This record gives sequence, C-alpha cells and structure tokens, in this order.
Amino acid sequence: MLKGKKILLAVSGSIAAYKTTLLTRLLIKEGAEVKIIMTEAAKDFVTPLSLSTLSKNQVLHSLSENDSWANHVMLGRWADVMLIAPLSCNTLAKMATGLCDNLLMAVYLSATCPVVTAPAMDEDMWHHSSTKKNIEIIKSYNNYVIPVENGELASGLIGEGRMAEPEKIVQWLHSFFLTSKELAGKKVLITAGPTYEQIDPVRFIGNFSSGKMGIAIAAEMQNRGALVTLVLGPSNIDVNNGIKLVRVKTADEMFNACLEVFPKTDIAVMSAAVADYKAVNTAKEKIKKTEDTITIELTKTKDILKALGSLKKNGQILAGFALETNNEKENALKKLSSKNADLIILNSLQDAGAGFGFDTNKITIFDKAGNEYAFEMKSKSEVAADIVNIIIKQLHAKA
Ligand code: CTP
Repeated sequence: MLKGKKILLAVSGSIAAYKTTLLTRLLIKEGAEVKIIMTEAAKDFVTPLSLSTLSKNQVLHSLSENDSWANHVMLGRWADVMLIAPLSCNTLAKMATGLCDNLLMAVYLSATCPVVTAPAMDEDMWHHSSTKKNIEIIKSYNNYVIPVENGELASGLIGEGRMAEPEKIVQWLHSFFLTSKELAGKKVLITAGPTYEQIDPVRFIGNFSSGKMGIAIAAEMQNRGALVTLVLGPSNIDVNNGIKLVRVKTADEMFNACLEVFPKTDIAVMSAAVADYKAVNTAKEKIKKTEDTITIELTKTKDILKALGSLKKNGQILAGFALETNNEKENALKKLSSKNADLIILNSLQDAGAGFGFDTNKITIFDKAGNEYAFEMKSKSEVAADIVNIIIKQLHAKA
C-alpha cells in the first residue's frame, strides 16, 4: 500500500521516539522509501545508528557536516510526505511560531510536501491551553495531526497524550494516500506540445516539443483529483483516460480553445511551446522550388499566457514556463511580471537532460512573493509532482 512512497520521518525529543524503530520497520516492510532526520533531543531516546540500520539510509541531525553547510532542506522536496513523529511539545511550539533553530525545523519550513504530525506528550502538557492553541495553529497551516491516544504515559499517569501506535500511524498513512485528493473538484487547464503554423499545404513552422512535460502535469493533476482539460498541439504521446483532450494544430486554435475554458478554470498551466510567429499568408498551392532564395513574411502569434494573465480573476492560479538559453533567472522573472503569471517554471537549455524530448527535466520555480524553488534533475513525472505541490501551496496562500 505504501509501496514506492517517499516518507521523510522527522523524530523529535519525546520518550515515544523509541517507537520509531518499529514505525520505520513497518514503513520499510510496506515498500516505502524512508529517510530520517532527528533533533538533538531525540538522540537521547533512540539512536541514529538504530534508525539508519532500519531505514538503510544515513540519519541526519545537523544543518552542517564537516564544517560545511549541507543542503538537507532538499529532503522536504524529495518526500511525498513529511511525518513528524513523535511531535514533542517543543517542536510543536516551534512549528506554530516558525522558529528555525535546527535541521528538522529548516526542513519543515521549506517542505513542499504535505506534513503529518503524531504528537506525544504528557496529559497535562497535552491539555495545556498553549498546546491546544499551537495544535490549532499548525492545522491552520495545512499540517495534519494524527490524534493522540489514551493510555499509560511515561509519567506513570494514565490519560491522553500517547503517540498513536506505529500500526495506527501506518493505517493513517494508508487512508491519507487513498483519499488525499488535494485538488478534488478543481478545474485545471493545461497546454502542451508544439504548434504547427502552416506555410503551404505541405509545410509548417514547428519546434521539437514532444508534449511530455505538459502531459505529465495533466496526469499528476488528475491523480490529485482535478478535472483536467488538456489543450494539446501535435504530439504522439498517450494521454490518460479521463482527461478532457482538445487537440489543436495552430497557435490560433490553441488560443481559442484556452480562452473558452479559462473563465471556468481554477488553475492554468501553460506548458506548450507555442510558435511565436506564423506566416502572414498561407500559400494555397505547394510553393515550387523556382527561386534560389525565398522570403516568407511572418507575423507574431497571439501570446496565450499573456492573454490569460490579463483576464485572470482573484483566486485563479496561472503558471507559465520559460525556456531559456541565457540570463535565465532575469528572463524568467521578466516573464512572471509581463505575463501577470503567479508562477514561472524555468528550464534552462544549459542543463544537459532538460528541455524538449528528454524524459527528464530540471526546473526552478519563481513565484510572485519572490520565492525561488530549485529542483534537481528528475523524471518528468517527478517534476510534474513538484510543480503540482508548489501550485497547491499557492492555492492555500490565496485561500
Ligand atoms: N506562450 C503562450 N503563447 C505564445 C507564446 C508563449 O502561451 N504565443 C507561453 C508558453 O506556453 C510559456 C510561456 O508563454 O508558458 C513562455 O514561453 P517562451 O517561449 O519561453 O516565451 P515567449 O513569451 O515566447 O518569449 P521569448 O520566446 O522571446 O523568450
């Protein structure tokens, strides 16, 4: 059930930390990939050696290694879910206030995946007004809280505050992955592929876009419960059943299809490589090879992303791509503002393995608030998941 899921287990300092050995074993048995981080306090209750042996991965607890800063915050981008178990009173308070004084908090504050917590504390601490308030605060930040259990506590008291048993946490994750359709009911518009601008009955201006990236985004949106319309230029790649497919050839056709769908759309992602120019006149007959040189007059196509940006209403999210060969960041930021987009996803042709035709891509996402999310080279389906995670973050921020 958890096969292939990437789980980042973050252990904070509570006696319940000893249960994370069993929890790790259960997650691994289910086929999950588990990476573990812990606070310094957690090391008093369970050793990094036990957890690294069980997870088969190095356990991290510090922001620096051998006197150099380690970029472990990327772990929150790697994971499908960050599971903070046990969640101590102290870490809860830091999450509620955004205090960043250790690796766990740095990863949490930069995580783009859902965050699930399993609190563990003594009954009196659990019932303290500040704890109750902090739990409500972290829930309001879209974190999940697995209910505590009633039973024997480390203090010897019997009451509420025990961390959910590892088996219960695993069950909770099962139903989370089954039902976490974060985009349920959301209407999504995606463009993908190239466009072909006809010159004569047998020739066109086109580009090497395969449509893979946009089709992967459409599939990921559908997985998260969205109702997806994909406006697709000429492409041979298969599209999942259940996605509403509108096939187009030219930039004009793509423009018209998008304008029709956009007003009822919650999220639009323009990933098509739309031709920037088309022939002023399309020859009715095949152009014959009579001259040594010929000139074809071209005119700009309509900029679909820009048009949608000017029509965008409050609450709608609009994302575009920027495919650049130089001055990448500067050009991406220019597109963000000139097209009135909420996000620009940059891929640079400087990166080998990124761009048209490849099965992999390497992106950096820029948003209007000035955030910059840089990702490693990944498969296009993993890149699609990263893009959708950032879009969901934007949706929550706008809500
Ligand atoms: N785009 C669009 N309609 C066009 C051209 C581009 O919707 N006629 C969208 C693309 O789908 C992409 C974004 O605009 O999301 C940026 O595309 P890109 O080709 O990088 O930028 P351009 O605006 O065309 O600028 P330039 O080619 O000069 O870099």
